[in-house]
Amino acid sequence: MKVQVCIIGGGPSGLLLSQLLHLQGIETILLEKYSREHVLSRIRAGVLEHGFAKLMREAQCGERMDREGEIHKGFHIAHDGVLDHVDLYKYSGGNSVIVYGQTELTRDLYEARERFGGKVVHNAEDVALHELKSDKPYVTYRLGDETLRVDCDYVVGADGFHGVSRKSIPKDVLREYEKVYPFGWLGVLSRTKPVSPELIYVKHDRGFALCSLRSQVLSRYYIQVPLTDKVEDWSDDAFWAELKRRLPEKVAADLITGPSIEKSIAPLRSFVAEPMQYGKLFLAGDAAHIVPPTGARGLNSAASDIYYLYHALLGHYKKGDDAGLAGYSERALARIWKAQRFSWWMTMLLHRFPDRLAYDDQLQRTELGYLFSSESAMRQLAENYVGLPF
Ligand code: FAD
Ligand code: PHB
Repeated sequence: MKVQVCIIGGGPSGLLLSQLLHLQGIETILLEKYSREHVLSRIRAGVLEHGFAKLMREAQCGERMDREGEIHKGFHIAHDGVLDHVDLYKYSGGNSVIVYGQTELTRDLYEARERFGGKVVHNAEDVALHELKSDKPYVTYRLGDETLRVDCDYVVGADGFHGVSRKSIPKDVLREYEKVYPFGWLGVLSRTKPVSPELIYVKHDRGFALCSLRSQVLSRYYIQVPLTDKVEDWSDDAFWAELKRRLPEKVAADLITGPSIEKSIAPLRSFVAEPMQYGKLFLAGDAAHIVPPTGARGLNSAASDIYYLYHALLGHYKKGDDAGLAGYSERALARIWKAQRFSWWMTMLLHRFPDRLAYDDQLQRTELGYLFSSESAMRQLAENYVGLPF
């Protein structure tokens, strides 16, 4: 088979790009390692930047997001015995975020690909990239007993952190930057009314916690746990008890608990691979970079990659202009590093580090005190959280 762009990975990045390109008459195929049900069973992001929402609308996939998603104009930070408010709307000059689950967004994108007759291959195994430095790159994959081949102009690696695309770039070309944090987040999804209409980020002596939501009947809570903990170590009762200990008294009293419908541990990591291009291969999303979830930047950073790559491919196919493709890596990375900085900052601000010094505790307290006493510090937080311009 021959297509213009072969996309590897059927997460939000790959799906969004294939949908946007399809609407412009650019032919793609998307190869996903797992079934659609498996992809949709992963509970991940919940907070979308307005820039991402705009891109979903441009992809004609924004209708349900606009109907069911919640606009959030602020959030809370509980720390040192107080519950402070961050007014995103005020300090970002009128912007906000949308609370809409990655699962729902991915479902909308799959439905759109189906509606538009897009080529999406599930259970594509042993995906391999070939001849990336030539004018005739191709991708092979296995479907059952059959090995298939896709010839294309370009390959997009949107196959997440553990995918094969980044690993196809020679080691002497790729530079990787990584910081692994000494803890993870244990997350629980429950069919209960959220404890607060707005998110609450909690810095506590027992560790970080987060009260988030997917809708007014679906809550998402997280607590910081040591990397040695396993999901099996945490019964629902133990999770709720620990969450309550970390919440301000008044919030804990209002918490409605219930059986978990999903429970998982995500280790926290910062990671960037440079460059994001090798010959005819372009990396996008988690395939090239990871942030700790504290600043809600991961999926949103994927969206900015897709925006730049989409416009670069449009330049090539519609105007014969390759400047966007040539500059993709540099342009994408400039924004990625800002998201890295912000996620690192929020992670350092709110977590309890096992090897911290009394000095570090004082700095955390001072940083929070400064944040809530300075309008310019608030503006920095707000403009990063709602998303810097693409
Ligand atoms: P992925 O979603 O990882 O998709 C990659 C796809 O490629 C997968 O479907 C995978 O099965 C497939 N694949 C892998 N290997 C292969 C292969 N060899 N061949 C073919 N296909 C392959 N981000 C935010 O912006 N806001 C948040 O609030 C937020 N909260 C988060 C909370 C948690 C607990 C976690 C873990 C993450 C959170 N994120 C958040 C990050 C966000 O989920 C990711 O950044 C996002 O999933 C990246 O999308 P992607 O399409 O690039 O990669
Ligand atoms: C979530 O709802 O899953 C979520 C929200 C905000 C974050 C991270 C995760 O910073």
